Amino acid sequence: MNRPLRFLVSAGPTHEPIDAVRYIANRSSGTLGLALATEILRRGHQLTLVLGPTHLTPPPSASLERVETATEMLAALQRHFPSADVLIMAAAVADVRPKQRALGKLKKDELGLQLPLKKNPDILSALGRIRSHQVVVGFALESLGGDAALAEAARKARDHGCDLVVLNGAGSMGGDGAEDVSFVRPDGTHAAFGTLLKSVLAQRLVDWCEREGRSTS
Ligand code: CTP
Repeated sequence: MNRPLRFLVSAGPTHEPIDAVRYIANRSSGTLGLALATEILRRGHQLTLVLGPTHLTPPPSASLERVETATEMLAALQRHFPSADVLIMAAAVADVRPKQRALGKLKKDELGLQLPLKKNPDILSALGRIRSHQVVVGFALESLGGDAALAEAARKARDHGCDLVVLNGAGSMGGDGAEDVSFVRPDGTHAAFGTLLKSVLAQRLVDWCEREGRSTS
């Protein structure tokens, strides 16, 4: 095989605590991120996996960092990014978090009907800004469909400093399949794959990263 690459992959949701028992999160199982981890290791590459809360079991040979929140995920990825060849940002990061986190469990009367929120850091943009040699892959989950979704994915690739955005439909979260999958470049050129099992999407994406990673490093 060719020279192994050093992959850094984020996977799973982040949980943003309201109190000791409640949180804000996206509906993500971590299935795709773990399929990527399995495929990367099967091909003999190095892998650091930064994994949000999930009940799925990660492959035993991955170097693993478990995190809960977006802030923790950013810190872990910033530590490992300089020594990575390829970043795949497969995590479904929560865009916002509660302004305050209560220590114990709030009584329902203490919750109120409005929850003050603040924005989480945009991890992909933060890492896209400091990249040097790394290949950077982001994801876009869009319910728009068609050309509008492709245009939005290309915009995200440009705005977040990615080499590639993996576009998929909003129904892809949680199950074993991904729908309306396209690989979209910042200039809008793309390859469409239709509906794929996440294990097959992982193979296609690692193929792409191997080609791109070897030509840039
Ligand atoms: N992402 C991130 N940090 C966040 C939110 C998302 O790094 N705080 C990453 C995701 O891991 C994904 C990419 O950004 O790879 C795109 O996520 P998405 O939610 O589709 O896009 P946003 O740019 O947040 O745009 P919007 O929600 O407005 O569509």
